[in-house]
Amino acid sequence: MFRNQHVVITGGSSGLGLALAFALAREGARISLIARDPRKLEAAANAIRTEVRDARVGVKPVDVADEAAAQAAIGELAWSEQGVDVLINSAGILREGYFEDLAMTDFRQVMDINLFGLLHVTRAALPHLKRSQGRLVNIASMAGLSGVFGYTPYCAAKHALVGLTDSLRYELAPQGVKVHLVCPAEFDSPMVDALDRSRTPENRAHTLTIPKTGVEVIVKGTLAGIRAGRFLIVPGTRTRMASFFMRHFPGITRMVGDRAIRQVYAGPEHHSSSPLIECRETGLPLGNSKPDD
Ligand SMILES: NC(=O)c1ccc[n+]([C@@H]2O[C@H](COP(=O)([O-])OP(=O)(O)OC[C@H]3O[C@@H](n4cnc5c(N)ncnc54)[C@H](OP(=O)(O)O)[C@@H]3O)[C@@H](O)[C@H]2O)c1
Repeated sequence: MFRNQHVVITGGSSGLGLALAFALAREGARISLIARDPRKLEAAANAIRTEVRDARVGVKPVDVADEAAAQAAIGELAWSEQGVDVLINSAGILREGYFEDLAMTDFRQVMDINLFGLLHVTRAALPHLKRSQGRLVNIASMAGLSGVFGYTPYCAAKHALVGLTDSLRYELAPQGVKVHLVCPAEFDSPMVDALDRSRTPENRAHTLTIPKTGVEVIVKGTLAGIRAGRFLIVPGTRTRMASFFMRHFPGITRMVGDRAIRQVYAGPEHHSSSPLIECRETGLPLGNSKPDD
């Protein structure tokens, strides 16, 4: 399905974006990775070239929050690779903490990258996706379908992304562009490694009412969902069950969340470690993941 397709992946130097890049390179796709740190990008591209024979991987260092730079980057990639067949928007950051401890800059930065950054890249890539009758794959989160303790900026951005992607699907379907919305629960990644170093106990208890999975579960579920032509892709059996429950039994879902939070509740006055993190460090998975699918 992806052989010889040009796939642009934002956030392609780490975590899910990188894992998808490996999988798609193995299927013979031409890959372009976008992220800010050029060294991480080169390391990611080299790792793919080393592991996948004949892999075709290019990189473009750019901050997606910079509209002009994002537009120029997509233009250059489309020109050098004769178009864009698939855009995967995986770039994202996380801020976790008690609402009253978070600053307005935390909200603005999360919105600037997770929502407006995605918009910048998508708007730039759209004419190419229309030409190729291609695919737009937006990586949202279960935090885009439900509230989560400690994730007020992140949930706000991911809920907005869910609404944006749902609306885009209606607008782009008649124009032949397929749209997919991916909503994973927590999985092992450098983002989560950084989160685990400072997250509030309530956030840990609440998010882990859905057990953490490995990134390979998310890759497998995402690619299977794309192949099946599904719009909403919720990778992992347990996560799918949880999302079914959230949709049909929201009261019970809230009760389960409230109970998990109550058992560990510390609150802003009592939680000592810094609640604020920017999760763009690399690190080793913590290894407490459970196989899901
Ligand atoms: N991990 C989870 O449990 C989880 C669960 C649900 C959804 N998600 C979503 O899945 C996506 C990937 O998460 P992950 O865990 O794989 O994160 P990750 O390992 O931290 O990777 C994030 C990627 O985004 C890039 N990035 C961040 N800000 C950027 C910017 N302004 N411009 C361009 N690139 C930028 C980072 O590179 P640079 O820092 O070099 O720019 C990195 O390549 C995110 O959208 C996240 O919200 C994650």
